[in-house]
Amino acid sequence: ADRTFFVGGNWKCNGTKDSIVELIDQINEGPSIKDAPVEAVLGVPFPYMSLVSEKLRDDWQVSAQNCWTGDGGAYTGEVSVDMIADCGAEWIILGHSERRHLDVLKETDETIAAKAAYALGKGMKVMYCIGELLSEREADQTLAVCERQMQALKEAVSDYSNVVIAYEPVWAIGTGKVATPEQAQEVHEAVRSWVKENISPEVAESIRILYGGSVSPGNCDELSTKPDVDGFLVGGASLKPDFLKIVDSYK
Ligand code: G3H
Repeated sequence: ADRTFFVGGNWKCNGTKDSIVELIDQINEGPSIKDAPVEAVLGVPFPYMSLVSEKLRDDWQVSAQNCWTGDGGAYTGEVSVDMIADCGAEWIILGHSERRHLDVLKETDETIAAKAAYALGKGMKVMYCIGELLSEREADQTLAVCERQMQALKEAVSDYSNVVIAYEPVWAIGTGKVATPEQAQEVHEAVRSWVKENISPEVAESIRILYGGSVSPGNCDELSTKPDVDGFLVGGASLKPDFLKIVDSYK
């Protein structure tokens, strides 16, 4: 399939101005990907988005990790999509498992889908995260959970050209317990068939499905051989310069 490989880094709530400038300098010294069949995107904490947008080489892109559900206004502490765009980001990560499951956040399917619809309407691109908890996998609910999360998106969105799906099994996030290439492929293939049946064959063919959860320079090459793994969303390993090796796994 003709899908451009995609590697997102998600820095989560990490970094300082100094550590970020150091990492960006190292990334900027890497090979240009301007004409390479890969997109590389850094998911940056809000306060640092402008800094990263200014310093990062322009063959790479910047993402936010969340957004407010609509226009700006009297929403203390929130960050609107317009502000994110104004700070130089083109992407927004939405529905990350930490935002879905942390007790103080507990974002619902509906909230996440509403954010996605609003952001897409504003011309932003969205990495929409899905994935099951360990208890859900053990109860054989993996596909049911992913399909429920996809259904929420479907009810809010009609144009998928700026959407990338990130399948991130929660038991694999930050645990060092990466899904096997077979486990990832099994879910990616099932999600793609769900898209084919429930959205359209064209969207199923073109939409990128990333794997996330303990991706490292050591395991990315094997995962990337699977036909329905179109790239990665990387947490911990995106904070180090050898993140470049994961970007390179498009080869
Ligand atoms: O968004 C990234 C995922 O949460 C993966 O995090 O690579 O540290 O396991 P991780």
